[in-house]
Amino acid sequence: MPKYMSGNEIRTAFIEFFKSKGHTHVPSSSLVPHGDPTLLFTNAGMNQFKDTFLGLEKREYNRAVSVQKCTRAGGKHNDLDEVGFTARHHTMFEMMGNFSFGDYFKDDALAYAWEFITSPEWLGLPTDRIWATIYQDDDQAYEIWTKKVGISPDRVVRLGEKDNFWRMGDTGPCGPCSEIFWDMGVEHSCDDPRGCRIDTCGCDRWREFWNNVFMQYNQTPEGMFPLERTGVDTGLGLERMATVMQEVYSNWEIDLWLPIFAKIEEMSGKKYQVGPDAVPFRVIADHTRCCTFLISDGVRFSNEGRGYVMRRILRRAVRFGRALGFTSPFVHQLAASVVDVMSEAYPELREKLTIVQDEIRREEERFFRTLEQGMERMGEILRNMRQDGRTAVDGTEAFVLYDTYGFPLDIVRDIAREHGFTVDEVGYQNAMAEQKARAKAARDVSYVQASLTRIAASLESTPKTEFMGYSRLSGDAKVVGVFDEEGNPTGAGAGSAVVVVLGCSPFYAEGGGQVGDSGALVAPGLRVVIEDTKKLPSGHWLHVGTVEQGFLEAGQSVTASVDEAMRLATMKNHTATHLLHKALREVLGSHVQQAGSLVAPDKLRFDFTHTGPMTAEEIARVEEIVNAEIERAEDVSWREMPIDEAKSLGAMALFGEKYGDVVRMVQVGDGWSRELCGGTHVSNVAQIGFVKVVSESGIGGGVRRLEAVTGAGVVRFFTEAAEKQAQAGEQLRGRIRELEKEVEQLRAKLAAGGVDELINKARDVAGIRVICGTAPVATMDDLRNMTDSIRDKIGSGVVVLGAATPDGKVNLVAAVTKDLAGKKVHAGNLVKAVAAICGGGGGGRPDMATAGGKDPAKLGEALQAVPGLVGAQVGV
Ligand code: ALA
Repeated sequence: MPKYMSGNEIRTAFIEFFKSKGHTHVPSSSLVPHGDPTLLFTNAGMNQFKDTFLGLEKREYNRAVSVQKCTRAGGKHNDLDEVGFTARHHTMFEMMGNFSFGDYFKDDALAYAWEFITSPEWLGLPTDRIWATIYQDDDQAYEIWTKKVGISPDRVVRLGEKDNFWRMGDTGPCGPCSEIFWDMGVEHSCDDPRGCRIDTCGCDRWREFWNNVFMQYNQTPEGMFPLERTGVDTGLGLERMATVMQEVYSNWEIDLWLPIFAKIEEMSGKKYQVGPDAVPFRVIADHTRCCTFLISDGVRFSNEGRGYVMRRILRRAVRFGRALGFTSPFVHQLAASVVDVMSEAYPELREKLTIVQDEIRREEERFFRTLEQGMERMGEILRNMRQDGRTAVDGTEAFVLYDTYGFPLDIVRDIAREHGFTVDEVGYQNAMAEQKARAKAARDVSYVQASLTRIAASLESTPKTEFMGYSRLSGDAKVVGVFDEEGNPTGAGAGSAVVVVLGCSPFYAEGGGQVGDSGALVAPGLRVVIEDTKKLPSGHWLHVGTVEQGFLEAGQSVTASVDEAMRLATMKNHTATHLLHKALREVLGSHVQQAGSLVAPDKLRFDFTHTGPMTAEEIARVEEIVNAEIERAEDVSWREMPIDEAKSLGAMALFGEKYGDVVRMVQVGDGWSRELCGGTHVSNVAQIGFVKVVSESGIGGGVRRLEAVTGAGVVRFFTEAAEKQAQAGEQLRGRIRELEKEVEQLRAKLAAGGVDELINKARDVAGIRVICGTAPVATMDDLRNMTDSIRDKIGSGVVVLGAATPDGKVNLVAAVTKDLAGKKVHAGNLVKAVAAICGGGGGGRPDMATAGGKDPAKLGEALQAVPGLVGAQVGV
């Protein structure tokens, strides 16, 4: 049997052994590979020696030994989903390795390996449980194992390329390899019909722990070429070796995990036990360890690359934490235990502990914010799937869980698996791709910018557009330019997207917060739908739309018509912002400055400087002032004037805005509100109808935002609010009905439970069964029901039940079975006598009667009197 060795002892022994064989101890490299874009994380001991194997880098030594931290949770090697469920996968593990760069080759490599694991001075493993695999035609390795080392030939197995030819990745050094296995024992055999053997089942009985690679080739995109110098690269899994040395079944039972499990036990109050309930412990411990190492090596949580892999790992741990009852950030508290166990070998961990804890805590806080809602959503998804008989979580739903609730796909997959379901991962990837495309479209604004520049260049000698939209919504105009989406001059047929420039236009071009107009350009046989209007700094209006019918080209005459309803609604909102602006200054003070606005047909938004939220009273006051102004039905007028004159009239201007010498001043009534403004307005404030503020919020930097609706928008707002309220009321009523039902059922249950108990305590009075006592229910109805069911159950006898009611009174019910009622015992008289004891009265039929009392303190005494009272009635 192996002798027990701790993880730390094994690590030290390995280094010492190879040092004694002339190897230089090289510290582990970072988990973040330096200068190797082909790798996401360091995933093998040889990574840092890649260039040395390839002959691109010379080192001072040609033999090295290392213990390398490795992560196989992303990139080419990804074990994340397995971790926690198998005996031997981790997101981060330690690979011990010895390396030869053009020095020794197969002979010494295998001899060293054998000596280290079998020599009593080192690990001292019994040789009869050790097996080796070799690459199918590697006769040299076969000879070494069987002749030089002396392993029994029936324990050397030849395997193919998949198992015994090791590659670092798609490119890089590679070569045949020989793996060493430990036989866990026949008791761990599987029942594979072909036999439980390394080359057939590869089940958990056979534990591969040491891979010896004979580096011979360089794999390049052009093919595989022999290396100038051969080499040796080995990898011995520390956790697997410890499993063997500590004679435990899985990697999770080794000493390196115990202190972390103990801390989880302490924090959760749950015990770690080998079995299915161990999974959350393992996942949490493993993932904490991995994140601790990754953060120490400089990785930070993010939405891409390494940072996203780490986010997936941490969030998986947090999700498993729910199973242990964790409802707030907890992982960061475990990092110190990881450092306690691991810092002997990795002292740098201790220096980084505070950073690690902070990073993890912040990420946990982020995820906990959406975790519960996400879990609820997941619950809904699972319920719907069961109802519809589906077994794969819809890809779009999985994407929503990711996008809205921060659930990485691993978590969705884990949860689905727990319920025997799968995830439509193709659908998920599609939804992800669609979203990326949308994001890209948004980024393509710069592309639009490029086309605008092109249009501006071709309009250089064209007079600017004359705006006629203050006074009219329709007019004839000449087409002076037609451009395609990329800004090239063009003629355009039906279906083409176009940008049209007119000599004059009634369309308002987006500016001053007011959205651009939509409408149409029409001529005989031609119709162009305009969706938006913008303007170039040069003063040219760009009508953006699509040719619906006919052919459009420069030089044509068209009738340009603005969508009147849209424009009128927008004008109401624009004038309303002026009223709000003025009212805000009256209510809050003259420090209020407009900081921005959006005036659209369906709503308006007004941003202004003010510290702190507005109170409900202030908002109501602003609405009052504005609506009073509307009721006054003042005219709105505008006029152009020199800027100085406008200023002397007290017109409000937009802070930081550049104005020309001549400005347009918009005025309400005889000057209650005066603003410099190029926008379009209603001619009388009465047209606005009504203004309703629908929200007030802070948008940062001492700026508040009001959103409001006007005119028909107000009616819509209240209609929707009423509908929502009605719906909420309906839901509430439904819920109340459900709860009432539940209460009723619970009461019935309670009563049913009480029935047997009372019957068991029946008394015998002259041959009559008398049942009396306090009931677990209190209403007269419930008491009567309970009394009935006792009477039905006993067949013959007397029942008297009483209860104190929540309002401090007493209810009593008496029932007598038919055979006795009125003949021997009279329920009415009985209940009357009982009630009298607790200060009340009542009575009724011989077989059934009720009564009330005023003194619940006397109830016990009254019920105790029942047998005596029955006795008195029957004359004993
Ligand atoms: N580089 C080899 C492996 O990772 C030893 O298995």
